[in-house]
Amino acid sequence: MADFSRTHPLSGFFAPTRFEADVIDCVVTGAIPSELDGAFYRMHGDWIYAPKFTDEPSLSADGYISMLRFRDGSVDYRGRYVKTDRYLRQVAARKQLYGYYRNPYSDDPEVRDIARPNLRTAANTTPVVLAGKLYATKEEGLPYEIDPNTLETRGPSDFLGSWPSLTFTAHPKFDFFTGETVAYGYESTGLATNDVHVAAFDRTGRVTWSLDFQVPYASMLHDMALTKDFVVIPGGGTVTSLERLEAGRPHWAWDSKRPSYYAIIPRGGRTEDVRIFEGPERSIVHTANAWNDGEKLVLDAPIADGNTWPWFEDVDGGAFAMNIFTIRRITFDLRSNSNKPTEDVLFDRDVTSFTRIDDRFLTRPNRYIWVQYADPDRPFHAALPEDPRVRPVNCYGRFDLVSGTDLAWFAGPDHVLQEPLFVPRTPHADEGDGYLIGTMHNLVELRTEIVILDAMKMLEIGRVILPFRNPYQVHGTWAGPRDLALT
Ligand SMILES: [Fe+2]
Repeated sequence: MADFSRTHPLSGFFAPTRFEADVIDCVVTGAIPSELDGAFYRMHGDWIYAPKFTDEPSLSADGYISMLRFRDGSVDYRGRYVKTDRYLRQVAARKQLYGYYRNPYSDDPEVRDIARPNLRTAANTTPVVLAGKLYATKEEGLPYEIDPNTLETRGPSDFLGSWPSLTFTAHPKFDFFTGETVAYGYESTGLATNDVHVAAFDRTGRVTWSLDFQVPYASMLHDMALTKDFVVIPGGGTVTSLERLEAGRPHWAWDSKRPSYYAIIPRGGRTEDVRIFEGPERSIVHTANAWNDGEKLVLDAPIADGNTWPWFEDVDGGAFAMNIFTIRRITFDLRSNSNKPTEDVLFDRDVTSFTRIDDRFLTRPNRYIWVQYADPDRPFHAALPEDPRVRPVNCYGRFDLVSGTDLAWFAGPDHVLQEPLFVPRTPHADEGDGYLIGTMHNLVELRTEIVILDAMKMLEIGRVILPFRNPYQVHGTWAGPRDLALT
């Protein structure tokens, strides 16, 4: 019997919902642009059974994928659990079987598999489109292929045997200029290893290049960036070890004495060509973009001076204090023998780590970055549960790297916002000419809404009203009929 009375991963509005749904022709306000033809896929975690431990960091909630199919000015909704091995085993046993995030030592004996920790993935992070297929991803395991129309789970994929890593990132990058997708897996050969596997896929999904290398120490490598000539993988601060895992603790802790690091990997290069740059203690979760001009490489990302993970205990026992993300630029001089990059703050506003750009400009200089953030000077009327993630994130901002200005859209005093994404008005529209689409939660009406803004003017055009609430979204992806065989 499901029992959430002793462990509340998230309560109130953000409690698990545990149902699948279809809504035909959703209620909308305003107008849905008829040129929006495609699907907004979203992923969130939705516990089918309560976590074993009260301090479980909620990163292992069961993966759930939904789609909002935009067509001819109307929208259909569909939501399904990702039928992972983890989900199916729990449902068969009718109880929770898995322990701490990325720690199989804390699992029930019947599912414990130390050598294959990737089998326990919750697949709850990002819907990824790769070579005409849709995947539910999470960095702890292989991606699960999903039918793009029915959202049925087709099963885990190692890309026809071409992906030797145990793990696959939730944030591969697509290069619009070459049609390549570059991806990586870390802890690629086993728990707490320093091993990283990197590879490029062509438009057909064939692996055209790969290499393996080692990072200075095993750390969460959540996101990457891609330039015309290089792959950039930042890491640091988060630490793990087999001893820690064998002791039954959650996978990650935070060590403020450890440097940040950046692996710079030439695209098409060899293991011996990989360079590691090191910086001071930093938290980097997501990247915005990167580009290189010859031997000068820049990475733009939300970066904080220290720990931003409330659930990752300090190795020295220090109390958690939230560090602030600001959008910064890290510059690497690849001609220099120094392994120290420089860092500049581009915007000093406190933002979340969820930045998006016009993805057609990934790998090349871009002008705009969109990000959601909490503006404490705006009114907020709704009640929020006691969870450090549940700040009233109430604004979408468009940050202009050329003018140095930001333009905000305020969601109102009863809403909190999730990561948006950008859809160009037409395939050849100018950078930023299009729509910003984002999920927001109406805490008064207890429902989730999808808002569509003019991405340049930052003004609302229309809104989709769902007749229920969704738990926290992690990431979303837009796909059109050219990307997937949508019906
Ligand atoms: Fe992410």
